[in-house]
Amino acid sequence: MAKWQTHYLEVVATARSWEFDSPLGHHGSIIPHCFRFRLKSETQSVPDAAPFPKFLFPLFSDLKVGQTFVKSNSGAPLIKPSIMLNIPIILGSVREGRKSEAPAKYILEKVKAAGYQTRLVDFKELPLPFYDAASIPAEYFAKDNYPDQNAQQWSEIARAADAFIIVSPEYNHGYPAVLKNALDWGYSEFTRKPFGLVGVSNGTVAGARMIEHLRPIIQNFNAMSIRETIMIGPIETYFDDSGKLLKPELDNKIEGLLDSLVWWGEALKKAREISNYSN
Ligand SMILES: Cc1cc2nc3c(=O)[nH]c(=O)nc-3n(C[C@H](O)[C@H](O)[C@H](O)COP(=O)(O)O)c2cc1C
Repeated sequence: MAKWQTHYLEVVATARSWEFDSPLGHHGSIIPHCFRFRLKSETQSVPDAAPFPKFLFPLFSDLKVGQTFVKSNSGAPLIKPSIMLNIPIILGSVREGRKSEAPAKYILEKVKAAGYQTRLVDFKELPLPFYDAASIPAEYFAKDNYPDQNAQQWSEIARAADAFIIVSPEYNHGYPAVLKNALDWGYSEFTRKPFGLVGVSNGTVAGARMIEHLRPIIQNFNAMSIRETIMIGPIETYFDDSGKLLKPELDNKIEGLLDSLVWWGEALKKAREISNYSN
């Protein structure tokens, strides 16, 4: 006999406040302030495709799909974003035993679970020379031909992106040189795209100074850094050595940052298309 399983559909969104009970025993409610609700379903199949009865879906019409987190308990997104965005996660540390890797990978999984295209950009795997090219990046961008193979690959990743999340530690109240060097290798790749900034440190300032130092650099790309930021520190209180999250409240902050980043990502993507501004 098939085993009945309990599945959950979690939605975090800006939705009106409502509660309902369905004839099939589904219950939905919004928890005030965090705009999160959960649908529970007893089914015999894994609900990655369409586990919830069709009559429930009109209820989702009020949600701004694409600005929501929708996932099953199997981790797969159930409702795809209406506008697909590519949101790479840039890791700012290449240090042996780096602590920023855990939050970067955690955020990567969250972005994936929300249904967006993403990847980790790790300059340990993709080392870039200190900027030593004869010309400025915009010229190499125009020719789509950087003088370094890894710089070319980095350019291709960045030009395909619609938004970025930087997860970086604070070094001497600023950003790590490796991160600034990576940003120096690009320019047009970043133009008119939004950046979400996440600071990491072993102290309570948690990368806040690093974040503020990054903003004018991003502004120079004619890009924008969104207001919402995440400061993770002391890092040891957020993730254990195996990379396990110790403070579940981080999820709300990630959702808030992603919600805003997606808003800007969609708006700027549409604007780039309308204005024939392709890069
Ligand atoms: C070169 C260097 C400079 C640092 N400067 C700061 C700092 O200014 N503020 C701070 O809160 N932590 C600072 N730290 C401590 C870092 O927050 C801590 O080592 C953190 O784990 C670094 O991230 P990572 O492990 O991903 O490289 C510094 C660490 C290094 C290696």
